Amino acid sequence: MFTQFFGLKYNPFTKEIPVSELFQGSDFLELESRLKYIQSTRGIFLLTAEAGAGKTTALRRFCKGLNPGLFKPCYYSLTTVTVMDFYRGLIMMLGEEPTYKKVTMFEQLQKLIYSSYHDQRVTPVIIIDEAQCLSNKVLDDLRILFNFSMDSENPFILILAGQTPLRNRLQMGVNTPLRQRINVKYHLQGLKKEELRDYIQSRLKYAGAMETNLFSDSALVSLFTITKGAPRQVNNLVTSCLMYACANQMRLLDEEVVYQANRDIEL
Ligand SMILES: Nc1ncnc2c1ncn2[C@@H]1O[C@H](COP(=O)(O)OP(=O)(O)OP(=O)(O)O)[C@@H](O)[C@H]1O
Ligand SMILES: [Mg+2]
Repeated sequence: MFTQFFGLKYNPFTKEIPVSELFQGSDFLELESRLKYIQSTRGIFLLTAEAGAGKTTALRRFCKGLNPGLFKPCYYSLTTVTVMDFYRGLIMMLGEEPTYKKVTMFEQLQKLIYSSYHDQRVTPVIIIDEAQCLSNKVLDDLRILFNFSMDSENPFILILAGQTPLRNRLQMGVNTPLRQRINVKYHLQGLKKEELRDYIQSRLKYAGAMETNLFSDSALVSLFTITKGAPRQVNNLVTSCLMYACANQMRLLDEEVVYQANRDIEL
């Protein structure tokens, strides 16, 4: 096993990563500061990025950091549904049994959000992940659903997170009213070229490695060129590199290893 070969207690390049161990690159920190801002001001937040750049992971950390006495995070990711199913899903997430008609579910949802904020003093934090898959009908309903007191207050935080095409969807004329209501947005880029070495070393360190400087400079350049700094792609490629190096008994990983390892994972 490559973990044994490199003195690792486990493979640190997987999705099972505690939020306390996340790598805090400059992009990640900027996103965190914008999330802190929406936490204090409420309203609608738009988070976009390419696949695997770290959106859901950053939101997981954001939710963990919220005081449960003041915020109620609700995470929703089943976005390939009809408007009715979407309403049902949101109501269940907010802890109630949905009614049957759209009009009553609409009222039920608004009441749930309004009373959570005003009566219980708990701000609902509704996270809609994979929002690039929402239909225009659902997107349009969102702005109506989150219109409170004749569009004069925001008793909620709504986070729309999705891959880059979501930005294009929101550019469409039909989605202008929703786009105009977005209070804060951020496009996550992932890791920067100069952060890649630190990222890999920090992951190796958490897994107990004594030697963490495994990749040569040119290997790191290749890793970045292939993955564009998206942590999921980095994780997959680094894992493949470690396996290849172990099979070939190599302790220093150069660009040839990256090339061969990438061939192994290319579909
Ligand atoms: N800050 C970070 N520190 C360490 N690892 C990270 C970080 N961000 C992301 N990762 C790793 O990258 C993987 C992919 O991240 P994530 O699932 O959050 O991407 P995503 O942007 O939500 O992708 P998708 O658009 O496909 O849903 C995570 O499972 C995790 O292993
Ligand atoms: Mg995701």
